[in-house]
Amino acid sequence: DLEFFFPVEQTLAVIKPDAYKEHKDDILSYIKEAGFSISQMKETVLTKEMAEGFYKDHRGKHFFDELVQYMSQGPSMMMILSKENAVQEWRDMMGPTDPELAKQSNPSSLRAQFAKSILENAIHGSSNVEHAKKNINLIFENINLE
Ligand code: TYD
Repeated sequence: DLEFFFPVEQTLAVIKPDAYKEHKDDILSYIKEAGFSISQMKETVLTKEMAEGFYKDHRGKHFFDELVQYMSQGPSMMMILSKENAVQEWRDMMGPTDPELAKQSNPSSLRAQFAKSILENAIHGSSNVEHAKKNINLIFENINLE
């Protein structure tokens, strides 16, 4: 049974506000072409408090205030993506944090195509299964699993 080797995972994917406004349809077609199922999706305007909670691991860094501002400027698309190895596959499809690096190392990645800068980088994806569970709960159930 292949499920044993490649269990279906869930990851949290976010189309950030500027990309949601400008590139939503393109990004959604890439997601479907790559074989992800969208288990749930909702448009959400993050409050500053929610954005701070979402990125709490980065509190105190030089880019934190700008990041919170960017994430709370308008509606984002929040999605639970399901697939075998979803967490890693979505990270690969996003590309590196910095779009300049993304253009060099993975030009077909979403950030290479749609990110404007390291801050305004269009897409989020959970970095591991544990973060995925926490952030899915935070965004979709409003439960803060510390
Ligand atoms: P991080 O978790 O390091 O990257 P990723 O989103 O690829 O998992 O950083 C979170 C967000 O913080 C990142 O998507 C954009 C922003 N950021 C900056 O604005 N400047 C920076 O130097 C870094 C590292 C991140």
